[in-house]
Amino acid sequence: MVVFENKAILKLLLVCLFVQFSVSAANFFQPFNVTYDHRALIIDGKRRMLISGGIHYPRATPQMWPDLIAKSKEGGADVIESYTFWNGHEPVRGQYNFEGRFDLVKFVKLVGDNGLYFLLRIGPYVCAEWNFGGFPVWLRDIPGIEFRTDNEPFKREMQRFVTKIVDLMREEKLFSWQGGPIILLQIENEYGNMEGSYGQKGKEYVRWAANMALGLGAGVPWVMCKQTDAPGDIIDTCNNYYCDGYKPNSPNKPTIWTENWDGWYTSWGGRLPHRPVEDLAFAVARFFQRGGSLMNYYMYFGGTNFGRTSGGPFYITSYDYDAPIDEYGLRSEPKWGHLKDLHAAIKLCERALVAADSPQYMKLGPRQEVCARRFLGNNMQAHVYWENTQSTVLNITLSESQSACSAFLANIDEHNTATVTFRGKSYSLPPWSVSILPDCSNVAFNTAK
Ligand SMILES: *[C@@H]1O[C@H](CO)[C@@H](O)[C@H](O)[C@H]1NC(C)=O
Ligand SMILES: *[C@@H]1O[C@H](CO)[C@@H](O)[C@H](O)[C@H]1NC(C)=O
Repeated sequence: MVVFENKAILKLLLVCLFVQFSVSAANFFQPFNVTYDHRALIIDGKRRMLISGGIHYPRATPQMWPDLIAKSKEGGADVIESYTFWNGHEPVRGQYNFEGRFDLVKFVKLVGDNGLYFLLRIGPYVCAEWNFGGFPVWLRDIPGIEFRTDNEPFKREMQRFVTKIVDLMREEKLFSWQGGPIILLQIENEYGNMEGSYGQKGKEYVRWAANMALGLGAGVPWVMCKQTDAPGDIIDTCNNYYCDGYKPNSPNKPTIWTENWDGWYTSWGGRLPHRPVEDLAFAVARFFQRGGSLMNYYMYFGGTNFGRTSGGPFYITSYDYDAPIDEYGLRSEPKWGHLKDLHAAIKLCERALVAADSPQYMKLGPRQEVCARRFLGNNMQAHVYWENTQSTVLNITLSESQSACSAFLANIDEHNTATVTFRGKSYSLPPWSVSILPDCSNVAFNTAK
C-alpha cells in the first residue's frame, strides 16, 4: 500500500515536471515586439531585411513539414508564410478541425522550433486556387448573406472565424510578444481587385475589416495585400512578378512584397509554368536594391491539392508552382541553390541596408557620387547603402572601412552586357542582372550567373 502510494506520488511529480517542461518549451524566442517604420519591420528594436518562404500547411502532410521547414531555413528563409483555410478548419459551422494536415498550431510551432518567424495570412477569403477560395460551403446558405462586402451576416461569420484563429494563436503563445514566431498577420486578400464592383459598401467593408482586425489585440502588425487604400496602421503590400517600384500608401509604412510569383499554378491540359531563376533572382535583388524590406516567395513549396481542395476552373491536383522545393519536397535545382546564394549575399548587406533611411541613389561621399552616376548609363543603376556613422548621436567618427557600405549595380538592359565603373573599379554586368557588392567593392553575387 505504502509502495503504491509512493508510486502514485512519483507519477504525479513526473506529470508536473512534464507539464512544466512543455510550458517552457512553448517559448521559441525571448518575447519581442514587432513594430515598423518607413524602412522595415522593427523586430525587437532592430530593423530587419527578411526573406520569407510560402508553404501552405494543408498542401503537405505533417510528416513532410519538418523537412520542408528545414530546407527553407537552409535556403536562407527567415520567415515562413501561409494562408489559413477556413473550409478545412470549419467544414461544418461551429465544428472545428485542427487535426492532421490542418494542425495549424503544430505547423507554427515547428516553424518556431527552427528559429524562423511566421507570417499568417488569415483572409479568411484567400483565393489560393483553393476550393471556393477557402470559404466553407455552408456560408452560402446563411440567409441574407453577401460575401466580402458591408453585409451583417457575412461580417458576423468572418469576425467569428478570424477571432477564433487569433485567439487560438494567443492561447498557444505563438505571437512574438509571447515568445512565439508570429510577427505579421494579414486580413482579407487582394480585395483591391474587387472593391470597385462593391461601390461604397466595398469601401466601408475595408474600413470595417481593418478595425475588426486591429481590435483583436493580436499585438503584431497587420497587412492587406493589393489594397492601396489600406486604412490607418494596416500596411498595404505588393503581389506581383516584380515589386521594385512599389510604394505603400503612407511614408510611414515599409515596402513589403507578400507574393513574389516564382512560378504559377497549372490548369488541366495547360503547360507546366516555368519562371527562370535568373529572372526571379533579378526581381528579388531589384526589390531590396530599391528599398524593399520583406519579400515572400509564393510559393517556396507549392505541394499538392489533396482530396477535393483544388480550386478552379480546372486546376490540377499538383500545386508544384515551379517552386524552389518541388511537389515531392525535393530541392528543385538550379532554383533552390541559386536563390540560397542570393539570400546569403543580401544578408551580407543587411547592416548597410537597414542603416540607410532613404535608399535612393545614396551619396557615396563628396567625390564618389559624380563618378557613380557619370559612368552608369541610362540602363545602369547603382543604389548605395551607406551607414552614416558621422551623424549618429554617439558623435563618433569612424573611418570608411569601419562603417558599412553595400551597393547594388543593376543592368536593366535585356539584351546587352554593360561595363560600368563604380568607385574606380570596373564591373561587367550581364543583361537584365544585378551585382551585389556587400562591401561596395567585391561582387558577392550576380543574379544572372
Ligand atoms: C512590448 O510592448 C509592450 C507595450 O508597449 C510592453 O508592455 C512590453 O514590455 C514590450 N515587450 C517587450 C518584450 O519588449
Ligand atoms: C560632437 O563633436 C563635436 C566636434 O568634435 C563637438 O564640438 C561636440 O561638442 C560633440 N557633441 C557631443 C554631444 O559630444
